[in-house]
Amino acid sequence: MKKNVFILLALGAMFAFVGCSQKPVKTIANLKEGIKGETTASAKYAAFAQKAREEGNDTIAKLFDAASKAESIHAANHTKVLEKLGEKMEPFTPQFEVKTTAENLQAAIDGETYEETTMYPGFLSDAETEKAVDAVKSFTWARDTEKKHAEFYKQALAVLQAGNESTLPFDYEVCPVCGNTYEAGSVDEKCAFCQTSRDQFVKI
Ligand SMILES: [Fe+2]
Ligand SMILES: [Fe+2]
Repeated sequence: MKKNVFILLALGAMFAFVGCSQKPVKTIANLKEGIKGETTASAKYAAFAQKAREEGNDTIAKLFDAASKAESIHAANHTKVLEKLGEKMEPFTPQFEVKTTAENLQAAIDGETYEETTMYPGFLSDAETEKAVDAVKSFTWARDTEKKHAEFYKQALAVLQAGNESTLPFDYEVCPVCGNTYEAGSVDEKCAFCQTSRDQFVKI
C-alpha cells in the first residue's frame, strides 16, 4: 500500500515538472510567422530598392536598403529565440510583387502598419502570457522599428508625389542588435531601443 502511495506521489511530481517546463506553443507559432514576415520584408525591400534605382529614385532606394537590413536583423533575432526554445524554422520561399516605386512605398506602409499595430501587439500579448521573455524582447524591438519604418515610408511617398525625392536623406544607420533604423542627421549615440553604441551601427 505504502509503495503504491509512493509511486502515485512520484508520478504526481513528474507531471508537475513536465507541466512547468511546457513550451510556449503560441509564441513558437508566432516566432515562425514573424520570421516568415521579416524574411519576406527583407527580400521585398531589396527588390523595391532595385526598382527604385531603375526609376532613378536613389534616395528612396537607400531607404529600402536600410529597412531591408533592419528586417534581416529582426528575422535573425526571432530565429535565435526560436532555436533557444528547441525549435527550427521550416524552409519557405518569400512571396511578393514588385510594382512602381509609388505602389511599392504604399505596400511597404501597409505592411509596416499591420505589423506595428496588429501583428506584433498580438504576438506580445501571447508572449507575455506564456512568460517567453526572449520573445517579448525580440518582438518589441521589431514593433518599435516597424513604427519608424512606416513613418519613413510615408514621408518618402509624400515627397515622391511632390516630385522632391532629392530632398530625402541619402544615408542611414542601422543598429546591428535590434534593427533600429536612423536617418542621417538624427542618430543617437546609443541605440534608443537596446543601448548599443553608435560606433557599431551599420552604415547604409
Ligand atoms: Fe522588422
Ligand atoms: Fe538597437
